[in-house]
Amino acid sequence: MPGEAAQELRTKPYQLPMPAEALADIVVPAAIPADERIWVPQTEDVWFRPLCLNRSTGYWMNLLRVRRGGVLSRHRHSSPVHGFVLRGRWHYLEHDWVATEGSYVFEPAGETHTLVVPEDVDEMITLFQVNGVMHYVDPWGRPEGFEDVFTKIDMCREHYAAVGLGADYVDQFIR
Ligand SMILES: [Fe+2]
Repeated sequence: MPGEAAQELRTKPYQLPMPAEALADIVVPAAIPADERIWVPQTEDVWFRPLCLNRSTGYWMNLLRVRRGGVLSRHRHSSPVHGFVLRGRWHYLEHDWVATEGSYVFEPAGETHTLVVPEDVDEMITLFQVNGVMHYVDPWGRPEGFEDVFTKIDMCREHYAAVGLGADYVDQFIR
């Protein structure tokens, strides 16, 4: 019957190979890891967990974890950021809203902010896509350093070598 044929076609997998130059996909089954070593320390009470370090287009996907009322230093974004709060809550010193569990946040290019997790939150975890460069700045915008996908990759290599996972552990997240 024609109906049966149409149904079969709808559920038939794509029959051709992916483009020869396409990069491999990434699947991370335990995105919030059981192995503590996978969290890369960033500053006191702040860690990140790499998921996709996209060196070819200059962005990174990561989980940011903050404990014990930590602060992520003031920084300016060259490009947009997307965030989804998985645990806890946080806010920016520069805005009057609070990002709570389940919140989605868009931060436009040009935004400068300081992320704070309140003292009564034991643990905050947020999925962030960060594009381009984070410029760390003083309260008047004077540069104090930067991070991009390449500094993130370097941090991962150094940490994973130190904890015994091996410097090449990070390779699975790089595209
Ligand atoms: Fe930010």
